Amino acid sequence: MDVKSCVNLWVQPTRGLMDEKFVVLVQNVLPGSQLTVRAFHRCEDGHSWEAFAHYNANTSGTVNVAEDLSLGGTYSGVEPMGLLWSLRPVPGSKPGLRMRKMNVQTPMEVTISVYQGHQTEGFMDQVPLASEMVERWYIAPGVHRIPITEDGLSATLFLPSGPGPFPGLLDLWGGGGKLLEYRAALLASHGIASLALDYLTPKITMKTGRMVDDQYFETAYRVLQQHPQILDSRIAMLGLSLGGSIVFKTAAYSQVIKLSCAVSINGSHVQPVDASLDEMILFFKENAEKCRSTEQNEVIFRDLLLPIPTDPTLKVDVARIQCPLLLVVGEDDQNWPAHESAMDMKEMMERAGNSHLLTVLSYPNAGHLIEPPYAPHARASSFRSVKSHETVMALWGGETAAHARAQEDAWRKMLVFLKANLYGGTNPGAASFSKL
Ligand SMILES: *[C@@H]1O[C@H](CO)[C@@H](O)[C@H](O)[C@H]1NC(C)=O
Ligand SMILES: *[C@@H]1O[C@H](CO)[C@@H](O)[C@H](O)[C@H]1NC(C)=O
Repeated sequence: MDVKSCVNLWVQPTRGLMDEKFVVLVQNVLPGSQLTVRAFHRCEDGHSWEAFAHYNANTSGTVNVAEDLSLGGTYSGVEPMGLLWSLRPVPGSKPGLRMRKMNVQTPMEVTISVYQGHQTEGFMDQVPLASEMVERWYIAPGVHRIPITEDGLSATLFLPSGPGPFPGLLDLWGGGGKLLEYRAALLASHGIASLALDYLTPKITMKTGRMVDDQYFETAYRVLQQHPQILDSRIAMLGLSLGGSIVFKTAAYSQVIKLSCAVSINGSHVQPVDASLDEMILFFKENAEKCRSTEQNEVIFRDLLLPIPTDPTLKVDVARIQCPLLLVVGEDDQNWPAHESAMDMKEMMERAGNSHLLTVLSYPNAGHLIEPPYAPHARASSFRSVKSHETVMALWGGETAAHARAQEDAWRKMLVFLKANLYGGTNPGAASFSKL
């Protein structure tokens, strides 16, 4: 019997948003036969990633990845999205790779294939029983991408589809710099007009060598506030890592930026309170000798801010925060003492009587880099310091399956938090929430 010709591989949807689940169904194989389902992706930077899992077909000759047990591979157990979150560089790749989508106007293309038997290697030399290409998008149809260069900004605005008006969000990434658009694009796909802002390596800094000041963030805020399709009193700020430091500072002290709510992903309030961005980074650098390294020479940055200081001039006075604040914390964060910081902030806010504004999502065995759902987990990767231009292998932490679950859960809860606080009961953008 020619097995190949009649195997049916069905993946739905073949085109979806990055945070959408898919179904992978293999039909018409020999009842009880052993199969390997594999995902393959070639990144924009040319590196190849793969994930695979071993299944046994049931007595009807079917494997359903959403419901059946993986018996081994890059993940095990019932993991509907394991083929995406357990993607890892193919054997022989250079160490320290981290997958990041730089061009959100093209999809991440993933080839799902089925192979006979329980295979772990040599996929390139085999002909699969069946293959299907799926597209994963950060940007939903109808979302507008608008580069913003006026007033010295290096930013991109993503506007949801439809007339609006929409709530707005200022999106800040961490210490690696660059203009990263994918999270803002995905947030806009969920109805929130989002401005991705490069504050570490914007053109103006690259040209003059000077880091931006508070005014830069105020200018970015005004771009959102003055946009005719954005609700000027419904603006949030989201920051990861170093971006979180800026979120705390802004929420506590800014006279200009008035936030409806704020989110920090693995951030810390520890920083010299009156410092400029430049001085803040210098402060982190001066503590650099506190960093440890693993036997594999991966740098653990987290001790840099430990122990949490008692000196009030060295941490943001979170007692001043008057908007709802969501902290997302990976308890295995090796990069930043996010957990210790969250506990200290909670205590400060309890003492001040504003802890009702605080929500902490804390995940055991999750590392520093909390990305949107199903993004592959990087426990460590190359990190180039913006200031010193040194490249080190940074240990972010996290255990892959637990980290994947944290990303999925944190993203869902963050969207609920943002919508609850930005729409304030009503939901003017609901009709425009894109579904692919
Ligand atoms: C085999 O799996 C498919 C898909 O999950 C299911 O519809 C079918 O009922 C299963 N067959 C048996 C005999 O359990
Ligand atoms: C940060 O929190 C997330 C959420 O758990 C976690 O997965 C991640 O590993 C933590 N570290 C950072 C900094 O993102």
